[in-house]
Amino acid sequence: MSTLITNIGELVTNAPEAGGTGFAALNDAALVIEQDTIAWTGAAAEAPAADDRVDAAGRAILPGFVDSHAHLVFAGERGAEFAARMAGIPYTAGGIRSTVAATRAASDADLLANLHGLAAEMLSQGITTFECKSGYGLTVADEARSVALAAQVTPEVTYLGAHVVPPEFEADPAGYVDLARGPMLDACAPHARWVDVFCERGAFDADQSRAILAAGRSAGLQPRVHANQLGHGAGVQVAVEAGAASADHCTFLSDADVDALAASGTVATLLPGVEFSTRQPYPDARRLLDAGVTVAIATDCNPGSCFTSSMSFCIALAVREMHMTTREAVWSATAGGARALRRDDIGHLGVGARADLVMLEAPSHAYLAYRPGVPLVAAVWQGGSLAASPDVLTGGSQAVQE
Ligand code: NIG
Ligand code: FE
Repeated sequence: MSTLITNIGELVTNAPEAGGTGFAALNDAALVIEQDTIAWTGAAAEAPAADDRVDAAGRAILPGFVDSHAHLVFAGERGAEFAARMAGIPYTAGGIRSTVAATRAASDADLLANLHGLAAEMLSQGITTFECKSGYGLTVADEARSVALAAQVTPEVTYLGAHVVPPEFEADPAGYVDLARGPMLDACAPHARWVDVFCERGAFDADQSRAILAAGRSAGLQPRVHANQLGHGAGVQVAVEAGAASADHCTFLSDADVDALAASGTVATLLPGVEFSTRQPYPDARRLLDAGVTVAIATDCNPGSCFTSSMSFCIALAVREMHMTTREAVWSATAGGARALRRDDIGHLGVGARADLVMLEAPSHAYLAYRPGVPLVAAVWQGGSLAASPDVLTGGSQAVQE
């Protein structure tokens, strides 16, 4: 079964012919999907025949967004905490504990229903791959069920037992670290691909973080780190030392942190929705890009520091507030996210890539920032199947005017 999508105004492939890296796009293009993969891309005038044909009517097509950082297994909400922040109360890691209490009290069915709801919300907005962390259970049983539930909706599951020290271990943080790198890890590792730690004042220090990441590695998990979100600290250095796929947040960086990232294979994942929702300063994306660091953008969707599932919103923030170009921001939300998950089958539309694509109700990727807040995702293909498609492909659609 093959599908030709033709009359594409702008096709963002992120697959430069010279084999380099970075944003790449074709105009007046077409692509062919064969089963679940991209079989051909090129000029519309040269497109081969296929079993089915879709007329994009001048719209843009992008790789599906890759959200490499999200916390979707939780119960409850923290709207009042957000409102208080907007009235001047600063964000602290302590709010996590209120979600931990709600999550522990929730049934598996309720957690799964919330998870499915958020996953559907993401897909309808063009996120075709997302990472999902535990971290609101913080007992062996609650962390194990969190990763097991996450594994029902994504292959990119992260064990984050080291999110914060739960209240019952307040007087014995070392005891909690032993639990998190011992029995809790053993119960979670079979369901997870990644191990993460919140390396921050008020959460886990550098040595505790190193111990948990090393144990995770021994259990077959690959490291990623919540680093330098709330202030300067050791998070980025710990991530780089551990060979982490990604250091996430990177809001407060020293020159040594930037140099260490640039010299490493660790991606800097920026989460501008967090700064929007906490009124912190935005990370300095230009400084990272200019130093040669690979930058990803992700949502960090969670009930506390940033409750958005919109990658389009994060792209608009990255462009407006972090001074990324529209091309850089779109690359970071697709290919950059794939790098942060060490995946080469997603985040681009080269031949052989997984056929995850987003069609915009717009002629170019730039509209994601040019028309902020407007729901521009018109259709989504995931693994070659139309996963979300409003009326746009079934009649009533109009060609996009430039
Ligand atoms: O990535 N920083 C730690 N974890 C989340 C926040 C979780 C919460 O506030 O509930 C984050 O921002
Ligand atoms: Fe996070």
